[in-house]
Amino acid sequence: MTSDTLKDNLLTHVLTPVLNYLPTPVSTTFKDLYASNPTSLVVLLLSSLLLIFQLFSRPISKSDRSFKSVTTLLNRGEKTNEDIDETVKRYEGLFTDARTDVGANTTEEAIGKRADEYKDMVSSFYDLVTDFYEYGWGQSFHFAPRFTHETFTESIYRAEHFLALKLGLSSSKKCVDVGCGVGGPMRNIARFTGADITGVTINEYQVKVGNRYCKEQGVDDICRSTQGDFQHLDQKFSPSTFDAAYQIEATCHSPNKTETFTQVATVLKPGGLFAGYEWVVLPENGYDSSNREHVRIKEGIEVGNGLPTLATGKQVKEALEKAGFEVLEAFDANRGQFASNEIPWYQTLKGNYTSLTGFRMSHVGRVCTHLMCTVLETLRVAPKGTVRVSSLLNATALDLVEGGEKQLFTPSYYFLARKR
Ligand SMILES: *[C@@H]1O[C@H](CO)[C@@H](O)[C@H](O)[C@H]1NC(C)=O
Ligand SMILES: *[C@@H]1O[C@H](CO)[C@@H](O)[C@H](O)[C@H]1NC(C)=O
Ligand SMILES: *[C@@H]1O[C@H](CO)[C@@H](O)[C@H](O)[C@H]1NC(C)=O
Ligand SMILES: *[C@@H]1O[C@H](CO)[C@@H](O)[C@H](O)[C@H]1NC(C)=O
Repeated sequence: MTSDTLKDNLLTHVLTPVLNYLPTPVSTTFKDLYASNPTSLVVLLLSSLLLIFQLFSRPISKSDRSFKSVTTLLNRGEKTNEDIDETVKRYEGLFTDARTDVGANTTEEAIGKRADEYKDMVSSFYDLVTDFYEYGWGQSFHFAPRFTHETFTESIYRAEHFLALKLGLSSSKKCVDVGCGVGGPMRNIARFTGADITGVTINEYQVKVGNRYCKEQGVDDICRSTQGDFQHLDQKFSPSTFDAAYQIEATCHSPNKTETFTQVATVLKPGGLFAGYEWVVLPENGYDSSNREHVRIKEGIEVGNGLPTLATGKQVKEALEKAGFEVLEAFDANRGQFASNEIPWYQTLKGNYTSLTGFRMSHVGRVCTHLMCTVLETLRVAPKGTVRVSSLLNATALDLVEGGEKQLFTPSYYFLARKR
Protein backbone atom coordinates (compact mmCIF):
# COMPACT_ATOMS: atom_id res chain seq x y z
CA MET A 1 0.00 0.00 0.00
CA THR A 2 1.45 3.36 -0.96
CA SER A 3 1.59 6.06 1.64
CA ASP A 4 -0.86 8.15 -0.44
CA THR A 5 -3.60 5.53 -0.42
CA LEU A 6 -2.97 5.02 3.27
CA LYS A 7 -3.44 8.75 3.81
CA ASP A 8 -6.60 8.76 1.72
CA ASN A 9 -7.95 5.78 3.60
CA LEU A 10 -7.23 7.42 6.90
CA LEU A 11 -8.87 10.63 5.76
CA THR A 12 -12.08 9.08 4.44
CA HIS A 13 -12.53 6.23 6.89
CA VAL A 14 -11.04 7.54 10.08
CA LEU A 15 -10.59 11.24 10.20
CA THR A 16 -13.79 12.49 8.59
CA PRO A 17 -16.13 10.37 10.75
CA VAL A 18 -14.28 11.40 13.93
CA LEU A 19 -14.31 15.04 12.98
CA ASN A 20 -18.06 14.94 12.38
CA TYR A 21 -18.45 14.25 16.07
CA LEU A 22 -16.30 17.16 17.18
CA PRO A 23 -17.20 20.83 17.45
CA THR A 24 -16.23 22.86 14.35
CA PRO A 25 -13.25 24.78 15.83
CA VAL A 26 -11.69 21.53 16.97
CA SER A 27 -12.31 19.74 13.69
CA THR A 28 -10.84 22.68 11.72
CA THR A 29 -7.69 22.53 13.83
CA PHE A 30 -7.41 18.82 13.14
CA LYS A 31 -7.95 19.27 9.40
CA ASP A 32 -5.29 21.99 9.29
CA LEU A 33 -2.91 19.79 11.18
CA TYR A 34 -3.58 16.97 8.75
CA ALA A 35 -2.94 19.23 5.74
CA SER A 36 0.33 20.60 7.13
CA ASN A 37 1.68 17.57 8.90
CA PRO A 38 -0.16 14.31 8.36
CA THR A 39 2.40 12.23 10.23
CA SER A 40 1.94 14.05 13.51
CA LEU A 41 -1.79 13.63 13.19
CA VAL A 42 -1.43 9.92 12.57
CA VAL A 43 0.72 9.66 15.67
CA LEU A 44 -1.86 11.61 17.62
CA LEU A 45 -4.65 9.40 16.34
CA LEU A 46 -2.78 6.22 17.13
CA SER A 47 -2.10 7.34 20.66
CA SER A 48 -5.77 8.24 21.14
CA LEU A 49 -6.65 4.81 19.84
CA LEU A 50 -4.31 3.22 22.32
CA LEU A 51 -6.18 5.12 24.99
CA ILE A 52 -9.55 3.90 23.71
CA PHE A 53 -8.04 0.42 23.49
CA GLN A 54 -7.12 0.64 27.16
CA LEU A 55 -10.58 1.80 28.11
CA PHE A 56 -12.19 -0.93 26.07
CA SER A 57 -9.96 -3.74 27.15
CA ARG A 58 -10.57 -3.23 30.84
CA PRO A 59 -13.56 -5.03 32.32
CA ILE A 60 -16.18 -2.52 33.39
CA SER A 61 -15.80 -3.59 36.97
CA LYS A 62 -13.46 -6.08 38.55
CA SER A 63 -16.25 -8.43 39.44
CA ASP A 64 -17.76 -8.27 35.98
CA ARG A 65 -15.92 -10.87 33.96
CA SER A 66 -18.66 -11.04 31.40
CA PHE A 67 -17.13 -8.30 29.27
CA LYS A 68 -14.52 -9.29 26.79
CA SER A 69 -11.47 -7.37 25.84
CA VAL A 70 -11.12 -5.92 22.39
CA THR A 71 -8.24 -8.22 21.62
CA THR A 72 -10.72 -11.05 21.03
CA LEU A 73 -12.06 -9.12 18.05
CA LEU A 74 -8.65 -9.40 16.48
CA ASN A 75 -7.81 -12.89 17.47
CA ARG A 76 -10.10 -15.24 15.61
CA GLY A 77 -8.45 -18.47 16.66
CA GLU A 78 -7.81 -20.73 13.72
CA LYS A 79 -9.88 -18.66 11.31
CA THR A 80 -7.85 -17.12 8.52
CA ASN A 81 -8.35 -13.57 7.31
CA GLU A 82 -9.81 -14.77 4.01
CA ASP A 83 -12.49 -16.68 5.89
CA ILE A 84 -13.97 -13.58 7.44
CA ASP A 85 -13.98 -11.62 4.21
CA GLU A 86 -15.53 -14.54 2.33
CA THR A 87 -18.08 -15.18 5.06
CA VAL A 88 -19.22 -11.58 5.23
CA LYS A 89 -19.58 -11.44 1.42
CA ARG A 90 -21.55 -14.68 1.32
CA TYR A 91 -23.76 -13.47 4.15
CA GLU A 92 -24.43 -10.11 2.48
CA GLY A 93 -25.21 -11.94 -0.77
CA LEU A 94 -28.27 -13.54 0.83
CA PHE A 95 -29.73 -10.10 1.44
CA THR A 96 -28.84 -8.28 -1.76
CA ASP A 97 -32.54 -7.95 -2.57
CA ALA A 98 -33.36 -6.41 0.79
CA ARG A 99 -31.51 -3.14 0.54
CA THR A 100 -31.97 -2.43 -3.17
CA ASP A 101 -35.67 -1.57 -3.38
CA VAL A 102 -35.89 -0.19 0.12
CA GLY A 103 -39.31 -0.58 1.68
CA ALA A 104 -40.65 -2.99 -0.92
CA ASN A 105 -41.90 -6.33 0.34
CA THR A 106 -39.32 -9.05 0.42
CA THR A 107 -40.27 -11.43 -2.36
CA GLU A 108 -41.36 -14.96 -1.48
CA GLU A 109 -38.42 -16.08 -3.56
CA ALA A 110 -35.94 -14.09 -1.44
CA ILE A 111 -37.45 -15.38 1.82
CA GLY A 112 -37.35 -18.88 0.34
CA LYS A 113 -33.68 -18.47 -0.49
CA ARG A 114 -32.88 -17.35 3.04
CA ALA A 115 -34.90 -20.26 4.44
CA ASP A 116 -33.03 -22.72 2.22
CA GLU A 117 -29.72 -21.29 3.25
CA TYR A 118 -30.79 -20.85 6.86
CA LYS A 119 -28.13 -23.11 8.35
CA ASP A 120 -25.35 -21.46 6.47
CA MET A 121 -26.81 -18.00 7.04
CA VAL A 122 -27.21 -18.35 10.79
CA SER A 123 -23.92 -20.09 11.29
CA SER A 124 -21.97 -17.58 9.22
CA PHE A 125 -23.81 -14.72 10.90
CA TYR A 126 -22.67 -15.94 14.32
CA ASP A 127 -19.17 -16.62 13.03
CA LEU A 128 -19.07 -12.94 12.21
CA VAL A 129 -20.77 -11.38 15.19
CA THR A 130 -20.15 -13.64 18.19
CA ASP A 131 -17.05 -11.75 19.30
CA PHE A 132 -18.62 -8.37 18.63
CA TYR A 133 -21.70 -9.29 20.65
CA GLU A 134 -19.69 -10.60 23.52
CA TYR A 135 -17.47 -7.58 23.43
CA GLY A 136 -20.31 -5.08 23.37
CA TRP A 137 -23.04 -6.86 25.23
CA GLY A 138 -21.71 -9.66 27.46
CA GLN A 139 -22.39 -13.39 27.39
CA SER A 140 -26.18 -13.16 27.24
CA PHE A 141 -27.01 -12.18 23.67
CA HIS A 142 -30.47 -10.81 24.25
CA PHE A 143 -32.55 -7.81 25.21
CA ALA A 144 -34.71 -7.46 28.28
CA PRO A 145 -37.52 -5.29 29.58
CA ARG A 146 -35.77 -2.66 31.70
CA PHE A 147 -36.82 -0.97 34.90
CA THR A 148 -35.42 2.20 36.38
CA HIS A 149 -33.07 1.62 39.34
CA GLU A 150 -31.86 -1.59 37.75
CA THR A 151 -28.55 -2.03 35.96
CA PHE A 152 -28.38 -3.50 32.47
CA THR A 153 -26.99 -6.77 33.85
CA GLU A 154 -29.73 -6.96 36.48
CA SER A 155 -32.38 -6.55 33.77
CA ILE A 156 -30.79 -9.33 31.70
CA TYR A 157 -30.68 -11.66 34.73
CA ARG A 158 -34.25 -10.82 35.71
CA ALA A 159 -35.50 -11.68 32.21
CA GLU A 160 -33.69 -15.03 32.39
CA HIS A 161 -34.84 -15.80 35.94
CA PHE A 162 -38.41 -14.96 34.92
CA LEU A 163 -38.35 -17.83 32.41
CA ALA A 164 -36.75 -20.15 34.97
CA LEU A 165 -39.54 -19.35 37.42
CA LYS A 166 -42.28 -19.87 34.83
CA LEU A 167 -40.75 -23.23 33.87
CA GLY A 168 -40.59 -24.30 37.53
CA LEU A 169 -36.95 -25.35 37.17
CA SER A 170 -35.16 -26.99 40.08
CA SER A 171 -32.24 -29.34 40.65
CA SER A 172 -34.35 -32.37 39.74
CA LYS A 173 -35.23 -31.02 36.29
CA LYS A 174 -33.58 -31.49 32.90
CA CYS A 175 -33.90 -28.60 30.51
CA VAL A 176 -32.82 -27.75 26.95
CA ASP A 177 -31.75 -24.27 25.84
CA VAL A 178 -32.78 -24.01 22.19
CA GLY A 179 -30.26 -21.75 20.44
CA CYS A 180 -27.97 -21.10 23.39
CA GLY A 181 -25.35 -18.78 21.88
CA VAL A 182 -22.26 -18.77 24.07
CA GLY A 183 -24.44 -19.92 26.98
CA GLY A 184 -24.73 -16.85 29.21
CA PRO A 185 -28.43 -17.51 30.01
CA MET A 186 -27.83 -21.23 30.46
CA ARG A 187 -25.15 -20.67 33.11
CA ASN A 188 -27.18 -18.01 34.91
CA ILE A 189 -30.30 -20.18 35.00
CA ALA A 190 -28.34 -23.27 36.06
CA ARG A 191 -26.79 -21.35 38.97
CA PHE A 192 -30.17 -19.86 39.88
CA THR A 193 -32.14 -23.12 39.86
CA GLY A 194 -29.62 -25.97 40.00
CA ALA A 195 -31.32 -27.50 36.96
CA ASP A 196 -29.34 -29.57 34.47
CA ILE A 197 -29.26 -27.65 31.19
CA THR A 198 -28.07 -28.67 27.73
CA GLY A 199 -27.60 -25.86 25.25
CA VAL A 200 -27.88 -26.35 21.51
CA THR A 201 -26.38 -23.98 18.97
CA ILE A 202 -25.72 -24.41 15.27
CA ASN A 203 -22.45 -22.53 15.47
CA GLU A 204 -19.30 -24.53 16.29
CA TYR A 205 -17.36 -21.51 17.45
CA GLN A 206 -20.06 -20.72 20.04
CA VAL A 207 -19.96 -24.32 21.32
CA LYS A 208 -16.23 -24.05 21.92
CA VAL A 209 -16.43 -20.65 23.63
CA GLY A 210 -19.52 -21.67 25.63
CA ASN A 211 -18.03 -24.87 27.02
CA ARG A 212 -14.85 -23.04 27.96
CA TYR A 213 -16.92 -20.59 30.03
CA CYS A 214 -18.89 -23.43 31.67
CA LYS A 215 -15.62 -24.89 32.84
CA GLU A 216 -14.11 -21.57 33.90
CA GLN A 217 -17.22 -20.73 35.89
CA GLY A 218 -17.38 -24.16 37.51
CA VAL A 219 -20.82 -25.10 36.23
CA ASP A 220 -19.71 -27.70 33.68
CA ASP A 221 -21.24 -30.46 35.81
CA ILE A 222 -24.76 -29.09 35.27
CA CYS A 223 -24.56 -27.34 31.92
CA ARG A 224 -22.93 -27.81 28.56
CA SER A 225 -23.22 -26.69 24.94
CA THR A 226 -23.59 -29.01 21.99
CA GLN A 227 -23.57 -28.32 18.28
CA GLY A 228 -26.93 -29.01 16.66
CA ASP A 229 -29.69 -27.68 14.44
CA PHE A 230 -32.96 -26.88 16.22
CA GLN A 231 -34.77 -28.01 13.07
CA HIS A 232 -33.45 -31.51 13.85
CA LEU A 233 -33.41 -31.84 17.66
CA ASP A 234 -34.69 -35.40 17.24
CA GLN A 235 -31.32 -36.33 15.73
CA LYS A 236 -29.53 -35.21 18.92
CA PHE A 237 -31.89 -36.36 21.67
CA SER A 238 -34.30 -39.24 22.23
CA PRO A 239 -38.00 -38.35 22.45
CA SER A 240 -39.24 -37.19 25.89
CA THR A 241 -35.76 -36.42 27.21
CA PHE A 242 -36.43 -33.06 28.87
CA ASP A 243 -38.79 -31.70 31.54
CA ALA A 244 -38.60 -28.19 30.18
CA ALA A 245 -37.27 -26.10 27.30
CA TYR A 246 -36.69 -22.44 26.63
CA GLN A 247 -35.46 -20.24 23.83
CA ILE A 248 -34.29 -16.67 24.21
CA GLU A 249 -34.46 -14.66 20.99
CA ALA A 250 -33.22 -17.67 19.03
CA THR A 251 -36.12 -19.18 17.09
CA CYS A 252 -36.46 -15.90 15.19
CA HIS A 253 -33.72 -17.49 13.05
CA SER A 254 -35.94 -20.46 12.25
CA PRO A 255 -36.95 -20.93 8.60
CA ASN A 256 -40.14 -22.67 9.79
CA LYS A 257 -41.28 -22.10 13.38
CA THR A 258 -43.89 -24.87 13.27
CA GLU A 259 -41.12 -27.29 12.48
CA THR A 260 -38.79 -25.94 15.20
CA PHE A 261 -41.52 -26.05 17.85
CA THR A 262 -42.51 -29.57 16.72
CA GLN A 263 -38.92 -30.62 17.31
CA VAL A 264 -38.98 -29.03 20.78
CA ALA A 265 -42.23 -30.84 21.55
CA THR A 266 -40.68 -34.14 20.48
CA VAL A 267 -37.78 -33.95 22.92
CA LEU A 268 -40.03 -32.73 25.79
CA LYS A 269 -41.84 -35.12 28.12
CA PRO A 270 -45.67 -34.98 27.90
CA GLY A 271 -46.86 -32.00 29.95
CA GLY A 272 -43.40 -30.42 29.63
CA LEU A 273 -43.23 -26.64 29.57
CA PHE A 274 -41.66 -24.47 26.88
CA ALA A 275 -41.08 -20.75 27.41
CA GLY A 276 -39.35 -18.09 25.38
CA TYR A 277 -38.86 -14.59 24.11
CA GLU A 278 -39.46 -14.14 20.40
CA TRP A 279 -38.68 -11.27 18.00
CA VAL A 280 -41.91 -10.12 16.36
CA VAL A 281 -43.42 -7.17 14.52
CA LEU A 282 -46.51 -5.71 16.20
CA PRO A 283 -49.58 -5.16 13.98
CA GLU A 284 -51.52 -4.63 17.24
CA ASN A 285 -49.45 -1.43 17.71
CA GLY A 286 -49.84 -0.36 14.10
CA TYR A 287 -47.17 -2.26 12.18
CA ASP A 288 -48.50 -2.14 8.64
CA SER A 289 -47.03 -4.33 5.89
CA SER A 290 -48.20 -1.89 3.20
CA ASN A 291 -46.25 1.00 4.79
CA ARG A 292 -42.85 1.22 3.12
CA GLU A 293 -41.25 2.85 6.18
CA HIS A 294 -42.40 -0.04 8.37
CA VAL A 295 -41.20 -2.62 5.87
CA ARG A 296 -37.82 -0.85 5.60
CA ILE A 297 -37.35 -1.09 9.39
CA LYS A 298 -38.40 -4.73 9.43
CA GLU A 299 -36.01 -5.60 6.59
CA GLY A 300 -33.19 -3.71 8.24
CA ILE A 301 -33.64 -5.78 11.38
CA GLU A 302 -33.68 -8.99 9.31
CA VAL A 303 -30.53 -8.14 7.36
CA GLY A 304 -28.55 -7.13 10.41
CA ASN A 305 -29.51 -10.17 12.43
CA GLY A 306 -29.56 -13.09 10.03
CA LEU A 307 -33.34 -13.62 10.08
CA PRO A 308 -35.35 -15.21 7.25
CA THR A 309 -38.37 -13.02 8.00
CA LEU A 310 -39.99 -11.59 11.13
CA ALA A 311 -43.29 -13.10 12.29
CA THR A 312 -46.14 -11.63 14.33
CA GLY A 313 -47.15 -12.74 17.83
CA LYS A 314 -50.25 -14.36 16.37
CA GLN A 315 -48.11 -16.44 14.00
CA VAL A 316 -45.89 -17.53 16.90
CA LYS A 317 -48.93 -18.71 18.87
CA GLU A 318 -50.33 -20.51 15.83
CA ALA A 319 -47.02 -22.26 15.23
CA LEU A 320 -46.94 -23.40 18.88
CA GLU A 321 -50.50 -24.75 18.66
CA LYS A 322 -49.75 -26.57 15.40
CA ALA A 323 -46.63 -28.08 16.95
CA GLY A 324 -48.72 -29.69 19.70
CA PHE A 325 -48.51 -27.10 22.48
CA GLU A 326 -51.22 -25.44 24.49
CA VAL A 327 -50.31 -21.74 24.80
CA LEU A 328 -50.74 -20.73 28.46
CA GLU A 329 -49.49 -17.15 28.28
CA ALA A 330 -48.24 -14.83 25.55
CA PHE A 331 -47.62 -11.08 25.53
CA ASP A 332 -45.09 -8.42 24.63
CA ALA A 333 -42.92 -8.11 27.74
CA ASN A 334 -42.05 -4.58 26.58
CA ARG A 335 -45.65 -3.42 26.43
CA GLY A 336 -45.01 -1.05 29.37
CA GLN A 337 -41.76 0.35 27.95
CA PHE A 338 -42.93 3.97 28.15
CA ALA A 339 -44.17 3.73 31.75
CA SER A 340 -42.43 6.04 34.20
CA ASN A 341 -40.72 3.16 36.03
CA GLU A 342 -39.43 1.49 32.88
CA ILE A 343 -36.57 2.14 30.48
CA PRO A 344 -37.26 1.14 26.85
CA TRP A 345 -35.44 -2.06 25.86
CA TYR A 346 -33.59 -0.28 23.03
CA GLN A 347 -32.21 2.47 25.29
CA THR A 348 -28.95 0.57 25.68
CA LEU A 349 -28.40 0.76 21.92
CA LYS A 350 -29.19 4.45 21.88
CA GLY A 351 -26.74 5.08 24.63
CA ASN A 352 -26.99 7.26 27.62
CA TYR A 353 -23.81 9.10 28.30
CA THR A 354 -24.41 9.08 32.03
CA SER A 355 -23.46 5.45 32.31
CA LEU A 356 -20.67 3.25 31.07
CA THR A 357 -22.78 0.10 31.15
CA GLY A 358 -23.48 -0.98 27.63
CA PHE A 359 -21.36 1.93 26.41
CA ARG A 360 -19.72 -0.16 23.75
CA MET A 361 -23.06 -1.00 22.20
CA SER A 362 -24.28 2.59 22.38
CA HIS A 363 -23.97 4.87 19.39
CA VAL A 364 -20.75 6.53 20.54
CA GLY A 365 -19.36 3.18 21.60
CA ARG A 366 -20.08 1.76 18.16
CA VAL A 367 -18.40 4.74 16.50
CA CYS A 368 -15.29 4.12 18.64
CA THR A 369 -15.34 0.41 17.86
CA HIS A 370 -15.80 1.17 14.19
CA LEU A 371 -12.86 3.58 14.13
CA MET A 372 -10.68 1.16 15.96
CA CYS A 373 -11.58 -1.64 13.54
CA THR A 374 -10.93 0.65 10.56
CA VAL A 375 -7.48 1.64 11.75
CA LEU A 376 -6.56 -1.90 12.68
CA GLU A 377 -7.89 -3.34 9.43
CA THR A 378 -6.09 -0.64 7.40
CA LEU A 379 -2.90 -1.50 9.24
CA ARG A 380 -3.62 -5.19 8.52
CA VAL A 381 -3.73 -6.04 12.21
CA ALA A 382 -7.42 -6.95 12.14
CA PRO A 383 -8.65 -9.39 9.49
CA LYS A 384 -10.17 -8.04 6.28
CA GLY A 385 -13.95 -7.84 6.65
CA THR A 386 -13.92 -6.69 10.28
CA VAL A 387 -15.09 -3.20 9.31
CA ARG A 388 -17.96 -4.57 7.24
CA VAL A 389 -19.21 -6.55 10.21
CA SER A 390 -18.94 -3.50 12.40
CA SER A 391 -20.95 -1.47 9.85
CA LEU A 392 -23.58 -4.18 9.60
CA LEU A 393 -24.12 -4.06 13.35
CA ASN A 394 -24.12 -0.27 13.38
CA ALA A 395 -26.83 -0.14 10.74
CA THR A 396 -29.04 -2.70 12.40
CA ALA A 397 -28.79 -1.01 15.78
CA LEU A 398 -30.39 2.07 14.22
CA ASP A 399 -33.21 -0.03 12.74
CA LEU A 400 -33.80 -1.73 16.09
CA VAL A 401 -34.00 1.61 17.88
CA GLU A 402 -36.41 2.96 15.28
CA GLY A 403 -38.60 -0.15 15.46
CA GLY A 404 -38.58 0.12 19.26
CA GLU A 405 -39.34 3.82 19.42
CA LYS A 406 -42.32 3.41 17.10
CA GLN A 407 -43.35 0.24 18.97
CA LEU A 408 -43.56 -1.65 15.69
CA PHE A 409 -41.20 -4.33 16.89
CA THR A 410 -40.35 -6.15 20.11
CA PRO A 411 -37.53 -8.61 20.81
CA SER A 412 -39.34 -9.86 23.92
CA TYR A 413 -42.63 -11.45 22.88
CA TYR A 414 -42.94 -13.77 25.86
CA PHE A 415 -44.76 -17.10 25.66
CA LEU A 416 -45.33 -20.08 27.94
CA ALA A 417 -46.70 -23.29 26.44
CA ARG A 418 -47.38 -26.84 27.61
CA LYS A 419 -46.89 -29.94 25.51
CA ARG A 420 -50.27 -31.61 25.09
C1 LIG B 1 -43.33 -26.04 8.14
O1 LIG B 1 -43.26 -27.22 8.89
C2 LIG B 1 -44.51 -27.88 9.07
C3 LIG B 1 -44.34 -29.00 10.08
O2 LIG B 1 -43.25 -29.80 9.76
C4 LIG B 1 -45.00 -28.33 7.71
O3 LIG B 1 -46.25 -28.97 7.86
C5 LIG B 1 -45.15 -27.12 6.80
O4 LIG B 1 -45.51 -27.52 5.50
C6 LIG B 1 -43.84 -26.34 6.74
N1 LIG B 1 -44.08 -25.07 6.06
C7 LIG B 1 -43.37 -24.69 5.01
C8 LIG B 1 -43.71 -23.36 4.44
O5 LIG B 1 -42.47 -25.37 4.56
C1 LIG C 1 -46.66 -6.33 1.01
O1 LIG C 1 -47.50 -7.47 0.89
C2 LIG C 1 -48.73 -7.35 1.59
C3 LIG C 1 -49.45 -8.70 1.56
O2 LIG C 1 -49.07 -9.46 0.47
C4 LIG C 1 -49.55 -6.22 0.95
O3 LIG C 1 -50.75 -6.09 1.64
C5 LIG C 1 -48.73 -4.95 1.08
O4 LIG C 1 -49.41 -3.88 0.48
C6 LIG C 1 -47.34 -5.08 0.48
N1 LIG C 1 -46.53 -3.94 0.87
C7 LIG C 1 -45.80 -3.21 0.01
C8 LIG C 1 -45.02 -2.11 0.61
O5 LIG C 1 -45.77 -3.44 -1.17
C1 LIG D 1 -30.02 8.34 31.39
O1 LIG D 1 -30.15 7.41 32.45
C2 LIG D 1 -30.54 7.98 33.67
C3 LIG D 1 -30.52 6.89 34.72
O2 LIG D 1 -31.01 5.68 34.22
C4 LIG D 1 -31.93 8.60 33.52
O3 LIG D 1 -32.34 9.20 34.74
C5 LIG D 1 -31.88 9.67 32.42
O4 LIG D 1 -33.17 10.19 32.20
C6 LIG D 1 -31.35 9.04 31.13
N1 LIG D 1 -31.17 10.10 30.14
C7 LIG D 1 -31.67 10.02 28.92
C8 LIG D 1 -31.38 11.17 28.02
O5 LIG D 1 -32.36 9.07 28.54
C1 LIG E 1 -23.81 4.09 11.31
O1 LIG E 1 -24.98 4.20 10.50
C2 LIG E 1 -25.38 5.53 10.23
C3 LIG E 1 -26.66 5.49 9.47
O2 LIG E 1 -26.65 4.52 8.47
C4 LIG E 1 -24.29 6.26 9.46
O3 LIG E 1 -24.68 7.60 9.26
C5 LIG E 1 -23.01 6.21 10.27
O4 LIG E 1 -21.96 6.78 9.53
C6 LIG E 1 -22.64 4.78 10.61
N1 LIG E 1 -21.49 4.79 11.49
C7 LIG E 1 -20.53 3.90 11.40
C8 LIG E 1 -19.45 4.04 12.40
O5 LIG E 1 -20.55 3.00 10.56
